[in-house]
Amino acid sequence: MKKIAVLTSGGDAPGMNAAVRAVVRTAIYNGLEVYGVYQGYKGLVENNIKKLEVGDVGNIINRGGTMLYSARLPEFANPEVRKGAIKNLEALGIDGLVVIGGDGSYRGAMALSNEMNIKTIGVPGTIDNDICCTDFTIGFDTALNTIVDAIDKVRDTASSHERAFIIEVMGRNAGDLALFAGIAGGSESLLIPEKKEDIDEVVARIKAGEDRGKKHSIIVLAEGVMSGQDLAKELKERTGEEVRATILGHIQRGGTPSAQDRVLASRLGNYAVQLLLAGESGRAVGIQNNKLVSTKFEDVFGDVHNVDLSIYDVSKQLSI
Ligand code: F6P
Repeated sequence: MKKIAVLTSGGDAPGMNAAVRAVVRTAIYNGLEVYGVYQGYKGLVENNIKKLEVGDVGNIINRGGTMLYSARLPEFANPEVRKGAIKNLEALGIDGLVVIGGDGSYRGAMALSNEMNIKTIGVPGTIDNDICCTDFTIGFDTALNTIVDAIDKVRDTASSHERAFIIEVMGRNAGDLALFAGIAGGSESLLIPEKKEDIDEVVARIKAGEDRGKKHSIIVLAEGVMSGQDLAKELKERTGEEVRATILGHIQRGGTPSAQDRVLASRLGNYAVQLLLAGESGRAVGIQNNKLVSTKFEDVFGDVHNVDLSIYDVSKQLSI
């Protein structure tokens, strides 16, 4: 192994920069040349690839977003498009590739690793925490803290105006962001795709709260369940009360990465390069019980990241 490349792909996540830095510095520390692929798979296809030095990744550990830029390229599912990308990597003599991203990015990485001799390792970077075989993904902790901060702020106005508020959070089809934010933000109700709390129950909780003289409530809603606006409409019709929906949107993807995310990204980025140096390929790195692990891409797709429903149960008990 002499030359490796690194790219970030899909939705950006705070801590991706820390992962890029870890990959670049671990590679250089071990005597490898390292190249940055700009704009994810789009840059791979368009040959937007530049050599990186130690200084190129200075002062980025604290920055959100990704210095390598990111893009979604559905066309990468087409083998003809991938051929162009492989040609570009081969022309530069790259023998290892680190892909930092989510589930969609892993699919591209797996296809590449099956079609070329260049060894490929995936690093989980997404706020959604929806990738199998790792307890946490890079960006999840920072996004979670952003959401909790927003819940705290909304709670102030919710209690002043004695209103119910829905906070719609990202996560695509997964409920982890909502689940963790719900418990950390002390929400009265929680709706996640993996455990659909009946809307009847949310209505009952709002009414029970009112009977006790508590008129405000916070309902954390995962975007994978339904839209905040639709839920607000339904709750208003059924309770007769004012219900406001706040859709946090893309602020959840930005901001300074938390210390937790920086540590995770540094460890996983370093480990990805260690695996390449050991001759491994076609695997995704992750963390399980605070131990670094790697899993074959096929197995990552063969399984799902299960939400810990015991947290859901705790949240239920605490939000009486
Ligand atoms: O996968 C990250 C994520 O932020 C999801 O939570 C969300 O559903 C999606 O990306 C939004 O994608 P886009 O930025 O393309 O609108």
